[in-house]
Amino acid sequence: MKEGIKKKLAVLASGRGSNFVAIHDAILRGDIDAEIAVLITNKPSAGVIGIAKERNIDVQVIESKGLPAGEFDRKAVELLNARGIGLVILAGFMRIVGKPLIDAFPLKIMNIHPSLLPAFKGLDAQRQALEYGAKLAGCSVHFVDEGVDTGPIILQRAVPVAGNDTVDTLSTRILAEEHLIYPEAVKLFVEERLHIDGRNVLIDGK
Ligand code: GRF
Repeated sequence: MKEGIKKKLAVLASGRGSNFVAIHDAILRGDIDAEIAVLITNKPSAGVIGIAKERNIDVQVIESKGLPAGEFDRKAVELLNARGIGLVILAGFMRIVGKPLIDAFPLKIMNIHPSLLPAFKGLDAQRQALEYGAKLAGCSVHFVDEGVDTGPIILQRAVPVAGNDTVDTLSTRILAEEHLIYPEAVKLFVEERLHIDGRNVLIDGK
């Protein structure tokens, strides 16, 4: 990639922002040759806002509460297009992405989910794994399609479940793996090493 035309990334987040930090740290270390051009949040009280500001990243709040269906997505698309964003990264973004946004960024939106998909989609995946009695939990980075946690899988990491695990202890161990595979997936995208064949994401050199 030529100097000066770094890929522009946007992160969409609603919470504490530890995956945002992991990805930004990987950029600061020089592992990912890209820049986070904007953090968009739908929650004015999200912890991630302060973190992004400290890191001098543009923060845009589009409050989703009370907006008619599709309106958040249309506003986000406007903002993302205006900034020339090449990849949208959902990191603890607590909203189902609507069609306007998916159509504007086909196979250019990634999400991380704290389970080994296709198991335990949706909310409270770690609790679902524990209640089901799964022996292996984990995390998955996937492209976003119109379903909930159904898009093509990019990377996964397994985490063994211990007999005495609580939702908190399991979530903490899964999160440590999330912080490794999410930056790795973003790096692969930025280096144009991901190729889609139906549901299969093929990785150059792997
Ligand atoms: C993570 O567990 C991620 O898998 C899920 O939401 C959580 C976000 O955590 N999608 P953080 O805000 O990145 O710390």
